[in-house]
Amino acid sequence: MQQQMTEEQRQARLAQIKRQWEQRRQIGRSLGRIKTKIGVYSGKGGVGKTTVAVNLAAYLVKQGYQVGLLDADIDCPNAHKVLGVTERPLVEDGRLTPPQKDGVKVVSMAFFQEKEDEAIIWRGPMIHNAINQFLQMTDWGDLDFLVVDMPPGTSDAPLTVMQVLSMDGFVVVTTPQALAAMDAKRSINMIRKLNVNVLGVVENFSGEVFGAGAGRDLADELALPYLGSVALRPDYKDQTRAPVLSLAEVEEEYHALWSGVRAQLERLERMPEQV
Ligand SMILES: Nc1ncnc2c1ncn2[C@@H]1O[C@H](COP(=O)(O)OP(=O)(O)O)[C@@H](O)[C@H]1O
Ligand SMILES: [Mg+2]
Repeated sequence: MQQQMTEEQRQARLAQIKRQWEQRRQIGRSLGRIKTKIGVYSGKGGVGKTTVAVNLAAYLVKQGYQVGLLDADIDCPNAHKVLGVTERPLVEDGRLTPPQKDGVKVVSMAFFQEKEDEAIIWRGPMIHNAINQFLQMTDWGDLDFLVVDMPPGTSDAPLTVMQVLSMDGFVVVTTPQALAAMDAKRSINMIRKLNVNVLGVVENFSGEVFGAGAGRDLADELALPYLGSVALRPDYKDQTRAPVLSLAEVEEEYHALWSGVRAQLERLERMPEQV
């Protein structure tokens, strides 16, 4: 039997709907000012996803674009560190202004962690709420690109992020090792099931130590564009500045990577007009 709502319950329900509606409106307004969202994704952690996301974002700023970086890797949010951000975000009247480094605006789940080394076990609905809250609060301004550092793998976390933030496409990072390529394959199959565009595969840690070639093989096998390789270098130890901004060889790698991504975005008609 259906119970009648009391007047109080009715008012509370109305207030809740109003809040949700306002949240959606704000998110819509904020996302409406972001032209293209690119996710950086991998089959497992430690393959260089954050490193690629940070360097790609810095590279895009150098090309004259307005760029934001959202660290959505909830289990291991460290993009702000890799970018060398020392500032905290400014939060005023419920609005969050992202700190900037080398022109990249960055927002990280880590900004909301009480203790840096504390592990947070995020469940689907919590991730959903946290990301929505980010999206609602953050004043990104007008962005050409938002680069999203995704949680790795095929668990609840990446799925939830993909569900909340509809991405224009993904760059998949893998290593020259066959095992990583296998994980990457599983992940790519998941993205494809969700009908999200895979822009291409990049091989990180390429070179003498780990070899080379698994990235290209994977791309060929799955009929995806191969975006090139990023070599293993000691320069990544410096976490004060993205190497793409100071090393010509790294800039060249990202130039190649970007040409591939750009070609895919153009093909999909997701490439913003040049500024
Ligand atoms: N091409 C590279 N050469 C040398 N070190 C790298 C390279 N790419 C990433 N690293 C290092 O490897 C570690 C893992 O990279 P990270 O980007 O944090 O991986 P993920 O985000 O996939 O977990 C970091 O210490 C990073 O500095
Ligand atoms: Mg990472």
